[in-house]
Amino acid sequence: MGNAYTIAYLPGDGIGPEVSAQARKAVEAAAGRFGFDLDWVHHDLGADRYLRTGEVLPDAVLDELKATDAILLGAVGRPDVPPGVLERQLLLRLRFELDLFVNLRPARLYPGVASPLAAARPGDVDLEVVRENTEGAYVGAGGVAHAGTPLEVAVEESITTRAGVERCVRYAAGRAAGRGGRLTLVHKRNVLPYSGELWSRVAEHAAEEAGVALDYVHADAACLYLVTDPGRFDVVVTDNLFGDILTDLAAAVCGGLGTAASANLHPGARPGLFEPVHGSAPDLAGSGRANPVAAVLSAALLLDHLGEQQAATAVEAAAVAALSAPDASTEELGDRIAAAVAADPQAKP
Ligand code: IPM
Ligand code: MN
Repeated sequence: MGNAYTIAYLPGDGIGPEVSAQARKAVEAAAGRFGFDLDWVHHDLGADRYLRTGEVLPDAVLDELKATDAILLGAVGRPDVPPGVLERQLLLRLRFELDLFVNLRPARLYPGVASPLAAARPGDVDLEVVRENTEGAYVGAGGVAHAGTPLEVAVEESITTRAGVERCVRYAAGRAAGRGGRLTLVHKRNVLPYSGELWSRVAEHAAEEAGVALDYVHADAACLYLVTDPGRFDVVVTDNLFGDILTDLAAAVCGGLGTAASANLHPGARPGLFEPVHGSAPDLAGSGRANPVAAVLSAALLLDHLGEQQAATAVEAAAVAALSAPDASTEELGDRIAAAVAADPQAKP
């Protein structure tokens, strides 16, 4: 008898349900092949729920989510929801309440995918961004005075704690050690000396502890190098806001958001939250043209976090192989991936 896992299934809005369904099929296929059981618990969260009921993340739902093994999220958002509502009250609240302090975002250029970098070939870009996920500018510290008057003042603080940086950098250093690579700290310590100095000191210590080489690149220069010399990066560790920006750029360099997966983790604890980096793309919804690979690769990260490494490897391999299938619809791709996972983890779909 294999293990049994409770997975919260939050397909969300727009293309979210279409791509999540493919990810779920792949995970189901892996469960069948590798012998574990899944209990999917569907939660209707996102724009529709909000517009219908005014609810974003009821406390009772949050409690249920906390008791699961993993959360698979599609994408949320619709143009008729005011900006910031779902972002802060759902996505960020989940990251904070579950204390998912690592946002792991691999960026790989896969065979069958065209990079906008003319010279880039598959394998030339193969890096992981470890984005701090619970601090920085995202904590919502700040306020407004004299709103609407010429004296208006807006303050948005960025919060950095030693404990927060330490746990994030330690995880990143461990990943760098695991892949035999180097760790790169990305910050802007030339203009942000207080948090910059803290990140630098902690990173030096963590790199030394893990026995990995550490280098440092300013955030603006990191954008430049991601385009001119992406091969210089193995594991990048950075603050929440820099990580947000850098991972969209990294995704673009790897051919766009179609393959950009993410894991929101509290290493060593459950549940993690797994979601493609892309949004709900309302204009693509229902067209059958959404690429499910980012969602499927996020599901592979989910399996890895559950400790189902063989299943994770099989799902990842099948998703990557599916990228070579031109002009397949969302569902066709999902079917091919699931079939390949069910048949043989190394098989081409
Ligand atoms: C991301 C998104 C989120 C972020 C938004 C939707 C809150 O851009 O996951 O990268 O800024 O972290
Ligand atoms: Mn983002």
